Amino acid sequence: MRREHPRWIGVAWFMFVVTIIISMIVIAFFLTGYIYKIINWNPPFLLIQIANTLLGLVFTGTLIGAAGKVARSRGWVPEMNVFAPILDALERIARGDFSVRLTNEFQDNQMVSQLANSVNKMALELDQMENMRQEFISNVSHEIQSPLTSIRGFAKALENDHLSAEERHHYLRIIEEESTRLSRITEDLLKLASLESEQLQLEPRPYRLDQQIRNLILACEPQWKNKSINMEASLEKITITADEDLLSQVWLNLVHNSIKFTLEAGSINVELHPHADQIIFKISDTGIGIPEEDQTRIFERFYKADKSRTRTKAGSGLGLSIVKKIVEMHKGAIEVQSKINAGTTFIVSLPIK
Ligand SMILES: Nc1ncnc2c1ncn2[C@@H]1O[C@H](COP(=O)(O)OP(=O)(O)OP(=O)(O)O)[C@@H](O)[C@H]1O
Ligand SMILES: [Mg+2]
Repeated sequence: MRREHPRWIGVAWFMFVVTIIISMIVIAFFLTGYIYKIINWNPPFLLIQIANTLLGLVFTGTLIGAAGKVARSRGWVPEMNVFAPILDALERIARGDFSVRLTNEFQDNQMVSQLANSVNKMALELDQMENMRQEFISNVSHEIQSPLTSIRGFAKALENDHLSAEERHHYLRIIEEESTRLSRITEDLLKLASLESEQLQLEPRPYRLDQQIRNLILACEPQWKNKSINMEASLEKITITADEDLLSQVWLNLVHNSIKFTLEAGSINVELHPHADQIIFKISDTGIGIPEEDQTRIFERFYKADKSRTRTKAGSGLGLSIVKKIVEMHKGAIEVQSKINAGTTFIVSLPIK
């Protein structure tokens, strides 16, 4: 809201400006008179009047401009002063200090108040991004550090000449598994980076989605057979127009998760059917389930609900963030329903075209 000034202040300002203009015209009158006298010229009266008035106005403009500049530079004009804290905040943000928040002292001026709110919002978002960046770096370091520590430990143990062939074989297998894990993490990170880069173009083309899913389930057969899991699939014949390679990563991640988090002799049920102009993919398992407080977070990078990792094979927690990204790139959605120790269902809906 603009501040209301009393009426007399306007009148006083008007009188003040008129007085200055008149004074300047008077000065111009004496100055030009003096010049005419020196150069010994007697111009017509009209020309003298015009010259004096113009010169007087030029003097007035120069004087007011100079006074304004001085007042602004000294901060005597309150309206100008309000920008000082905003400029100060912007400078601190530019130096990387995102903790700055402007107090709500600008309510008098709606525009300045909006500007201050935007600066606060920008600082808050930069702050959150910085935190996410830090968390991401610490997660990456941790995920890479743990297999490296394990590789170093077992490599050292292999130096022992008294190891039996069986022990040696066991240690080598662990080293191999840990290096595979390392290379999977970097592969997944590169995949995420490429999915998030603006350059990645989807390559949609029509193909039989039910066949793709059936083939993937069959490809995983050794894994679910190994755990005596009862796998059931009811897949309706559906042709979808989508990026086949990317979607195969979605189904594979979800099927792998279900196998990984389902105990021996459990069951997994996969369904695929159309619903209006959408396709619905549903995978349910009778696995360990996900605690309610973790259900909204499992799509974050590196988030693992089963933190102890004692019951399940290690993973890096990147799978579902890749899944979500690909589904969203296809303008679809993914949701989870789960009950601890009862099982989990993931539902993916995608537009057919
Ligand atoms: N079917 C499921 N049953 C129980 N928990 C699940 C299931 N799917 C995912 N989760 C939980 O969600 C977490 C995140 O899953 P995500 O696929 O992102 O990671 P991950 O499988 O641990 O590792 P990665 O996929 O990178 O190998 C898992 O660690 C697990 O705690
Ligand atoms: Mg996974």
